[in-house]
Amino acid sequence: MSDVLQKIQSLKKEIELFEFANDQSAEEFRIKYLGTKGIVKELMSEMKNIPVEQKKEFGQILNEFKQFTESKYESLKQSSGSEKISSHDQIDYTLPGDEMPLGSRHPISLMQNSILTIFQRLGFAVAEGPEIEDDWHNFTALNLPEHHPARDMQDTFYVQQNPDWLLRTHTSNTQIREMQKNKPPIRVICPGRVYRNETISARSHCFFHQVEGLYIDEKVSFADLKQTLYFFAKEMYGKDVKIRFRPSYFPFTEPSAEMDISCTLCAGAGCTVCKRTGWLEILGCGMVHPNVLQNCGIDSEKYTGFAFGMGVERPALLKYGINDIRLFSENDVRFLKQFTSAI
Ligand code: DAH
Repeated sequence: MSDVLQKIQSLKKEIELFEFANDQSAEEFRIKYLGTKGIVKELMSEMKNIPVEQKKEFGQILNEFKQFTESKYESLKQSSGSEKISSHDQIDYTLPGDEMPLGSRHPISLMQNSILTIFQRLGFAVAEGPEIEDDWHNFTALNLPEHHPARDMQDTFYVQQNPDWLLRTHTSNTQIREMQKNKPPIRVICPGRVYRNETISARSHCFFHQVEGLYIDEKVSFADLKQTLYFFAKEMYGKDVKIRFRPSYFPFTEPSAEMDISCTLCAGAGCTVCKRTGWLEILGCGMVHPNVLQNCGIDSEKYTGFAFGMGVERPALLKYGINDIRLFSENDVRFLKQFTSAI
C-alpha cells in the first residue's frame, strides 16, 4: 500500500503545479485525472489489491484525493473562462502608455492655408482643378493659342501617351474650369501644385505650388483688384506693408500687372533678399481678357473680372527663413517637425 500512497503524494504535487493556458487545458486535466480511463479511476481499481484491514484507510485517502482533484478541476474551469490571461502576461494598467508621436503640418500647407483663409473671409470659395490637364484648359482657353510665343514663358512637361495632355504649368487652368461650370458672379480661390521643366536648384524646382484667384461679376474694375490685393497684403504681411503695381504682360489678362510688397526683412531699406531694391515680387494679376471670358461662354460685354496668381514657396521661404526650396519636397522628418502651428 505504501507504493500507492507515495504515488498519490507525487500526483498531488503534479496537480498543484498544473499550468493551464486555455479551456482545452481544463478539459485535458479532466480527461487525464477524472475521465473514465483517468488516474482517479485507475487508483480506485487498486482497491482490490489492498488487504482487507487497510481498505478503510485507503478508501479515505482515495476519496480525499478525488475531492482534491475535482476542486482543482473546478478552479481551472473558472479561471479559463473569465480570467483567461495567465499571470505572466497580465496587464499592468499603472504603467505609462506608449508615446504617440504627433505629426505636424507641412510648411507649404501652412502657408497655403493662411493665404486661403484671408480670401475666404472676403467671400472667395476654394476650388481645385486637375494636375494633368489638356492643352486647351492650360493654354488655348487662356488666350495662348498654339505657337503663341508666350507659351515659352512656361517650360511644359507633356504626357508621352497623349500629346494633348500635359502637367499644368499654372493654376490658371482652374479659373477656366470654374468659368465653364458656373455662371457669374464667380469668386474662387484655387490652390494647387504646378509643374515646369526647370533645372532643380536651391531657388527653383520642377514642381511648386500656386494660389489662383478669380472674381467675375458686372462692373468689376481694376480698383476692386487693387483693393482686394491690398487687403490681402496687409493681412498677410502686416498693416505697415507697402504695395506697388508694375505693368506686366500675361496673355490672359489685359491690362496685366505684377504686385510687389515692401521687403519683409528690411522693410524697404534694401537687403540681400530683395537684392537691394526694397521690394519683393509676390504675384501676377490683371483684368480677365475678354477672349478668355468668351472662350468660357461668358458674355464679355456684360461681365468683367480680375484674376491673380501667386506662388506659395517663396513666401514660405521668407516666413520661415529657409534658404533651399528643395527641403520642401525631401520629406526629412527632422525638417518637417519644426513647423507646428494652428491649422
Ligand atoms: N499664371 C501665371 C503664372 O503662372 C500667374 C498669373 C498671372 C495668374 C496673372 C493670373 C493672372 O490669374 O491674372 O505665372
